[in-house]
Amino acid sequence: MKAAIFNGPNQPLELKEVPTPEPGAGQILVKVAACGVCHTDMHYIDHGVPTFKQPPLILGHEPSGIVAVVGEGVKNFKEGDKVLLPAVLTCGYCFNCRIGRENICDNMVMFGNHVDGAYAEYVLAPAKDTLHLPDEVPLIEGSIIADAVSTPYHAVVNRGQVRAGDNVVVFGCGGVGINAVQIAAAVGASVIAVDIVPEKLAAAKRFGANAVINAKEVERIDKIIKKMTGGGADVTFEVIGNPSTIQQAFSCIRKGGRTVVVGYTNKNVELPASKIMFFEQEVIGSLGCRPVDYPKIIEMARTGKIKIKELVTHKFPLEKINDAFDLLRSGDPTVIRSVVIP
Ligand code: APR
Repeated sequence: MKAAIFNGPNQPLELKEVPTPEPGAGQILVKVAACGVCHTDMHYIDHGVPTFKQPPLILGHEPSGIVAVVGEGVKNFKEGDKVLLPAVLTCGYCFNCRIGRENICDNMVMFGNHVDGAYAEYVLAPAKDTLHLPDEVPLIEGSIIADAVSTPYHAVVNRGQVRAGDNVVVFGCGGVGINAVQIAAAVGASVIAVDIVPEKLAAAKRFGANAVINAKEVERIDKIIKKMTGGGADVTFEVIGNPSTIQQAFSCIRKGGRTVVVGYTNKNVELPASKIMFFEQEVIGSLGCRPVDYPKIIEMARTGKIKIKELVTHKFPLEKINDAFDLLRSGDPTVIRSVVIP
């Protein structure tokens, strides 16, 4: 099969012929239809973040496809089924899996990090983690449910516990944040979207934001948000990964409000402990998505409660995968998500 190989940092992926993997017991060989192009891959390629499996490795953790071969003992899938693979596979037996928090599994395995991913014609997956994709969800664009849509679903629904009528503020309307906007809107919240790029704010409006704020054009965002929400937001989401915007997100919540940190930073953040205590304000993290939530997200996509097709702004054949990364590097504000089609 053709695959794009990651041979190590600071070099383009190499398109190469490699052996097609064969499914063992309980596994499925999936013919990849599409795989979303994520910033996480840029961390491996450009920023020296190590992958768990030493290169050479096939990256790509946002795949959809069609079942090509089922391994021994696989019951619920057959050749030709449309499927989605979650970005992360869970063990099912560690403490966190046992208590239903599989997204923080102690033994998690990520496609294109611990094992070969889907920038290839085929990818191997355990049947237990594979999900059926209904016909109404487009196979190509549906791939991005695997990460770009599922991560904000968990953040909004489980961690943020956003309810109908809540005032929500989303800081950062990139590939992940835009989905926090549309999922919060879909569950009935009033959403204010914050970004520094006008195109991102325009997209946030198209995806359900009731109001948008360009953070570059205001001095005290907390004051503005408190005015707009009558005292502060119920829930704010930081989807950038920056200590200063985590502080901003926290400064915008009401008494008893909650800030959910979705963006990743390895830096420390200073927050007023007095408010956490005296105003019962919460700061919580959010990582990935639990397997149990995927069917709900797929159902939201199937019934049009969330938009999927519109999120995919660029498509590249596998041969042009390095162009997809160049586009990401360029910071082109019209990009919401690119997919690679092997
Ligand atoms: N204020 C408001 N918005 C900002 C600011 C700022 N100071 N700085 C950057 N942004 C906006 C950018 O303009 C962009 O639209 O934040 C957005 C970040 O989006 P992307 O770069 O597309 O990143 P994304 O893939 O959405 O991931 C965001 O979530 O899951 C995590 O690891 C991921 O840390 C990353 C974060």
